[in-house]
Amino acid sequence: MSSKVVAVINQKGGTGKTTLTMNLAAGLARRARSLVVDADPQGSAGHWVRMADDRRPFPASVISVAGPLDREVGRIRRDYDYVVVDCPPTMDRASAGAAMSVADVVLIPVLPSPVDLWGSVRMSRGLEDARDENPGLRAFIVVNQLEVRNALSRAMRHALTEIDIPALDSSLRRRAAYRRAALEGCSVYDLGKPGEAAAAEVESIIEEVFES
Ligand SMILES: Nc1ncnc2c1ncn2[C@@H]1O[C@H](COP(=O)(O)OP(=O)(O)OP(=O)(O)O)[C@@H](O)[C@H]1O
Ligand SMILES: [Mg+2]
Repeated sequence: MSSKVVAVINQKGGTGKTTLTMNLAAGLARRARSLVVDADPQGSAGHWVRMADDRRPFPASVISVAGPLDREVGRIRRDYDYVVVDCPPTMDRASAGAAMSVADVVLIPVLPSPVDLWGSVRMSRGLEDARDENPGLRAFIVVNQLEVRNALSRAMRHALTEIDIPALDSSLRRRAAYRRAALEGCSVYDLGKPGEAAAAEVESIIEEVFES
């Protein structure tokens, strides 16, 4: 299997980049060798795994890289089937730009409000720049913190059609399990029954992006 590098980006803060990164990496680790690259100077992914109970270590390793991100990820990817890069809330060349230049897939979590989505429009330009260098790059918006099933408002659907990045059919609902996983340094797969619905959402994203 050729390795897959996933860049999780959004220049806006707090849209769910780290939450998606960690749960996605945990789901992918059930299938193959997976690694998280923490490209955020805040170090949230690293902090997440340090919350883990020794008896239940996080299922994927988290590393941060010292050198240029694109070069380091290019090197590291040889040893993994999946590398998920958690980016900081910027579109800097050194972080999101570098991650996109070596990624196979970009995932952009957005909150389900048109205002948040408009705040993300500038990313289509960054994506176009990345595609000059990396033409095969696939990119999807992932709606996060959806309140009720199928509750995307008409305004949100319209806003989604205005941005030229396709949205996945699968989304993440707003659930206590996602917060709990962060607090316990685990993934929603590890929470038993209370995490089942969330884990099914992450599975659905994995199937849609990697297996269809
Ligand atoms: N689907 C969800 N349901 C409930 N809470 C969520 C969900 N997604 C994210 N959160 C919570 O929202 C907050 C922000 O999420 P997260 O840290 O993943 O965003 P981020 O984009 O990585 O932020 P930053 O831009 O600061 O890196 C966290 O407290 C997280 O637990
Ligand atoms: Mg984060």
